[in-house]
Amino acid sequence: MIKWGIIGLGNIAQRFAKSLSYSNEGKLYAIASRTKEKCDAFQERYRCEKIYEDYEELLKDEEIDSVYIALPHGFHKYWSIEALKHNKAVLCEKPVGLNAGEMEEIKNAALLNNTFFMEAMKTRFIQLIHEIKKIIKNKEIGEIESIEANFCSHVKEIKEGSYLLDKNQGGALLDVGIYPLSFVIDMIDSEVKKVNANMEINEAGVDSYFKAILTFENGVIGIIEGAFDRDKERTAIIKGTKGYIEIPIYNRPSIAKIYINGEEPYTIEEELEFDDMYAEIKEVHKCLKASRLQSEYMSLDESLRVMKVLDEVKKASNFN
Ligand SMILES: NC(=O)c1ccc[n+]([C@@H]2O[C@H](COP(=O)([O-])OP(=O)(O)OC[C@H]3O[C@@H](n4cnc5c(N)ncnc54)[C@H](OP(=O)(O)O)[C@@H]3O)[C@@H](O)[C@H]2O)c1
Repeated sequence: MIKWGIIGLGNIAQRFAKSLSYSNEGKLYAIASRTKEKCDAFQERYRCEKIYEDYEELLKDEEIDSVYIALPHGFHKYWSIEALKHNKAVLCEKPVGLNAGEMEEIKNAALLNNTFFMEAMKTRFIQLIHEIKKIIKNKEIGEIESIEANFCSHVKEIKEGSYLLDKNQGGALLDVGIYPLSFVIDMIDSEVKKVNANMEINEAGVDSYFKAILTFENGVIGIIEGAFDRDKERTAIIKGTKGYIEIPIYNRPSIAKIYINGEEPYTIEEELEFDDMYAEIKEVHKCLKASRLQSEYMSLDESLRVMKVLDEVKKASNFN
């Protein structure tokens, strides 16, 4: 049984604990929060053996195999590296860090300490996404010409003091834009050659909306958008020379429709196993059981590749 520790008991930590409870291969063993009240409330809801009021103390617990970093983005690098130094396998929330430089540091720490690290980019582990990649690889819709994906959601009220509005770690690109960015990069077997981008900056000084056009070396165009000040239907569209694929809610999909020119469209369906986080937890368990230090679906270099393009999007929109 793989013993997990969670660092930071916010929103996503709750969803993770629930998802982990579906597994027979891993269990929640310890939690760490800056406040005892939060630990107590969390422990009551999601059973675990140990509580720590100090993140470092949790990392010193030798019983723990794997740590889930559920902190705001700006703390991902520091606590991932601390966990790796303690030889804890790490599942770190998205975005993996604030820029490619931070991911380089995480990669070095993972390699130096010979310890597993994976970014929790949940879309990458979902079975339907793997099926769609097969359809693309088999050229069912011909040569890919373009991919459009967005994550635009109108957050009615952002709590004062939220990391989303913090100039150092906030904004739509890092928080939600990473989904379409990572998705498009996953689908296209080529490197990004050119980035055009623009951002709208709100009164807090962070990007509340961005749009970027990525031109890949093989000529494919990726169009991505992200926002927390407006809504947009979250369907990804992959266009090829012989047809196109529509994927509603592509970041946690269970259905996709394939249109091939001159043929009846068909649908592929694959229900999520329990929820949208379970697949990534299962992947960590699979890797640890096989003594693997990286996931084939979200390797260290893949996280780095995504962050390098994210840096280019910022640069192209003249926002730093
Ligand atoms: N995969 C997904 O679907 C998904 C969804 C939402 C968020 N996320 C990611 O998960 C991460 C956390 O998001 P969240 O929504 O869970 O955030 P949250 O509710 O604000 O929780 C973050 C937790 O981090 C800890 N923390 C430590 N230092 C902090 C500081 N200076 N300010 C605020 N919190 C601090 C706090 O835990 P303690 O008080 O217990 O120490 C806090 O509860 C983000 O990077 C986000 O991108 C992923």
